[in-house]
Amino acid sequence: MIDTLAPTLSDFISRLPKAELHLHIEGSLEPEQMFDFARRNRVVLPFRTVEEVRAAYAFTRLQDFLDIYYQGAQVLRTEEDFRDLALAYFRRLAADGGVHAEIFFDPQTHTGRGIPFAVVADGLLAGMAAARDQFGITSRLILCFLRHLDEDAAFATLAAAEPYLDRITGVGLDSSEVGNPPAKFARVFRAARDRGLRLVAHAGEEGPPEYVWQALDLLGVDRLDHGNRALEDAALTGRLGAEGMTLTVCPLSNLKLCVVPSLEAHPLRRMLDLGVRATVNADDPAYFGGYLLDNYLRAATALDLSRAQLIQLARNSITGSFLDADAQATHLVRLDAMPR
Ligand code: ADE
Ligand code: ZN
Repeated sequence: MIDTLAPTLSDFISRLPKAELHLHIEGSLEPEQMFDFARRNRVVLPFRTVEEVRAAYAFTRLQDFLDIYYQGAQVLRTEEDFRDLALAYFRRLAADGGVHAEIFFDPQTHTGRGIPFAVVADGLLAGMAAARDQFGITSRLILCFLRHLDEDAAFATLAAAEPYLDRITGVGLDSSEVGNPPAKFARVFRAARDRGLRLVAHAGEEGPPEYVWQALDLLGVDRLDHGNRALEDAALTGRLGAEGMTLTVCPLSNLKLCVVPSLEAHPLRRMLDLGVRATVNADDPAYFGGYLLDNYLRAATALDLSRAQLIQLARNSITGSFLDADAQATHLVRLDAMPR
């Protein structure tokens, strides 16, 4: 009898106050929205139907995905598009029980095709403000440099962001990892830190542990995106645990991009066992088949995570966020009151 009264795993996870710390807003562009935006902006797509788009989402590595992701982003043209995109994401997050999100955006994907930085930033900020009003969700904006482009382009992007730096919390580093090590961006990250920005970087998704060392030592990141391959290096894993570094882990992304052979083989549980502060995130949910709750649920099922471990993951997402101590404490009080 008691069992039937216990919340289902999905209800339990959904009720956990949790933050999403690794979400590319351009990666939340659903195929249906792609067609809507294409229609209203008169952009011609190389697909005729939503089914055709979804069929193209078969990836064997990161670059397969990136090629199609940059193509999809071309339908985004106006401030309204960016606002609508962001608000649709936050609606999904609210349904999943998310309370806070720190969203990445890739300005160079847009400025490179003539969309002004201000159009992108104003649209996203409007979506974030609407999410606060409509869903009570707080959020932060993180500007990502595209690492397949050069250092000058990253500096130019930081300069374009100058009027917005009071509304941008941090900078990140994304796109094609292998061949584009963090070292390439050490100076622009230093400049960002000098401007008071927080620092994050994708490292150890496909790239070797050496890239994770560089993200720590040369970029001085506050948080690490993915970090899976750090576990190949015991000294590095020990350092991540000892420093309390937060890792923004993305189970369904890793599965779709063949970073792991199966969810059962995913390192998330090992990270927790080793004392690494892992979190669960969706990365590019429209492309990888699941939003925040799905990522928790699928990982929990495949790895047989306990409710205490799920609470720990949610806790890590709050303490690893860039929220101030008071806001974190508010969420942690609720989390601590969750039945285990
Ligand atoms: N850009 C969007 N998603 C990404 C990912 N998972 N890795 C690197 N760059 C990205
Ligand atoms: Zn990512």
